[in-house]
Amino acid sequence: MEFIIAESTEDMSRQAADRIASYVDADPSCVLGLATGTTPIGLYACLVEDCAAGKISFADVTTFNLDEYRGLDPEHDQSYRYFMKKHLFDHVDIDQARTHVPEGANPDADAVCAAYEEAIEAAGGIDLQLLGLGPNGHIGFNEPEDTFPATTHCVDLTESTIQANSRLFDSIDDVPRQAYTMGIGTIMAARSVLVVVEGSHKAEIVKKAFFGPVTPQVPASILQFHPNATVIVDPAAGELCRDLA
Ligand code: F6R
Repeated sequence: MEFIIAESTEDMSRQAADRIASYVDADPSCVLGLATGTTPIGLYACLVEDCAAGKISFADVTTFNLDEYRGLDPEHDQSYRYFMKKHLFDHVDIDQARTHVPEGANPDADAVCAAYEEAIEAAGGIDLQLLGLGPNGHIGFNEPEDTFPATTHCVDLTESTIQANSRLFDSIDDVPRQAYTMGIGTIMAARSVLVVVEGSHKAEIVKKAFFGPVTPQVPASILQFHPNATVIVDPAAGELCRDLA
């Protein structure tokens, strides 16, 4: 695992965007796994800028997002499909038919999850998976548990995740209680993984996840076993890891 403490939050975003851009440059028809959340917004802005400047093209890229709330339409302004359109898809030359987000509006969890795994497989698997890190160590919506879930599945969100996400909804009662998410096995099967983390509120969990024991109680800790994982954190998120990195 490569662990990088960037010089600033902007530098974290730029470094991560550059890695994605060079991946796409080397393999224009690659399959990217994408994440939502606050952390990747800056790096998506960098990719939009690079695409507008003609430095990168997404024309042949296929994407699979990590997760989606169960019960939200793609048009809902808190759906992850909406987020991706707002921050990336509507501003780059990507073919939106090649962008995949679990079908949140479909309540048939088994059908949604099986179809998502099949689509990933049909695309040849994920080349580069982008991840953020939840305050409790979750990746995607894989919350602390007794085992690592293998494939795309439906999860009940924990109280802390509902709490963390409530800032984005009118009230905590509006936060969906379930989500569809890639499993840890789906994520680990990606040929490379890129994690971005920002903010001092993540400093403890960054240390635990990337320098502590590997345990399903800290789902991101499994990434220590990934053969090609890079973690880029901003100075605040990396403050407890300066002597470890
Ligand atoms: C997003 C996702 C989540 C976030 C994590 C961090 O698709 O799956 O695991 O990456 O909750 O979110 P932020 O960046 O908002 O702190």
